[in-house]
Amino acid sequence: MILASCREMLPGENRVALVPESIPALKKLGFEIVLETGAGEAAGFPDQAYREKGVRLESRNAVLGQAQVLCQFHAPSSEDVEALSPGTVVISLLYPLAHIPRVAEMAKRGLTVLALDLLPRISRAQSMDVLSSQSTVAGYRAIVLAASSLPRFFPMLMTPAGTIPPARVFIIGVGVAGLQAIATARRLGAIVEAHDVRPVAKEQVESLGARFVGLEVVQEKMQDSSGYAKAQSEEFLRRQRELIAAQCQKADVVVTTALIPGRRAPILITREAVEKMRPGSVIIDLAAEQGGNCELSEPGKTVVRCGVTLHAPLNPASAMAPQASQFFSKNLQAFLSLLMKDGEPRIDTEDPIFAQTLVCRDGQIVHEAVRKASEATPPGQTG
Ligand code: NAI
Repeated sequence: MILASCREMLPGENRVALVPESIPALKKLGFEIVLETGAGEAAGFPDQAYREKGVRLESRNAVLGQAQVLCQFHAPSSEDVEALSPGTVVISLLYPLAHIPRVAEMAKRGLTVLALDLLPRISRAQSMDVLSSQSTVAGYRAIVLAASSLPRFFPMLMTPAGTIPPARVFIIGVGVAGLQAIATARRLGAIVEAHDVRPVAKEQVESLGARFVGLEVVQEKMQDSSGYAKAQSEEFLRRQRELIAAQCQKADVVVTTALIPGRRAPILITREAVEKMRPGSVIIDLAAEQGGNCELSEPGKTVVRCGVTLHAPLNPASAMAPQASQFFSKNLQAFLSLLMKDGEPRIDTEDPIFAQTLVCRDGQIVHEAVRKASEATPPGQTG
């Protein structure tokens, strides 16, 4: 069974799906491993490191042509889909609802497609949870970026030259990235406050030594059955923006991570809120890939607005590619261990891990929500 992986083609993407350290365990599952030449270079893993573990390195088309299981960070391009043989199992992040035409191409080609972003957030799937592992990197990176942009110390300092108070950090959205940002800012000595719409986040915030800031009267349903935040009403968002503006005014650093699956990220920091912040403050908008949580964010750019430095990085985990790749590869190893039975991939659709991640099989889109969305998408729309 040939397990393959190619260099990621997305601009700015340095990560690689499989790292040399995972190869021995993958071989034990019955795989022969083939990689595109140079696939791991940008992540700090030269070809030689793979060769030493017994990996074959070949051209992209040769790799795609022989792949039986293909593992990537991002879904293959239309061209790559054509180079794959029908029946190949493709495992990657996919965000299928946002890429219906690509999903349709993969189904048409007869690929079996498993989307890692659809993994259920259950304890048994934690070791495979690529969203969590990459968000951990992003949350850490956000604070390191903020600390290097902020023209102030993070910790309190008492020196003969005077006493410096600790920096104040405000985190909006305390999922995996937000929690890691809290932990990192606390380690650097900052005073941290955090806000989320999910009331269960309060305990997690406090366990990290930060203060939870919530809206007092919460009547709306805040999370869905999978634990994700739900979109809130305009009235709720208005009150929330007021609370956030008051918090931002006190903060030196604001890190915002608020996401609603399948939707544009909510605007939580308005232009007026930025105008009231202290000059020299820093905002890190980790929701940039879904449009951003700050009205003034420019996804992919760093800008200075009203004296505030606003970073809206796309794919911040890629800036720490060696370890982000190491995490991803370990997640894949866990996923493949469950998938492989007697050296063959066996997709047990009774298992929620496969039932929820399986998008295409036997020429069809089999994931119900994705199939419905594809039926509602006009043909010819590009992905
Ligand atoms: P995410 O990346 O989807 O969202 C980030 C955070 O933004 C979430 O905490 C969300 O509640 C918050 N948010 C959304 N809209 C907001 C708004 N208007 N204002 C303020 N905050 C807002 O979250 P992530 O990190 O993917 O986690 C999603 C869920 O999955 C969480 O409940 C998390 O605890 C859970 N989870 C469970 C795991 C498990 O194995 N049991 C593993 C990882 C996450």
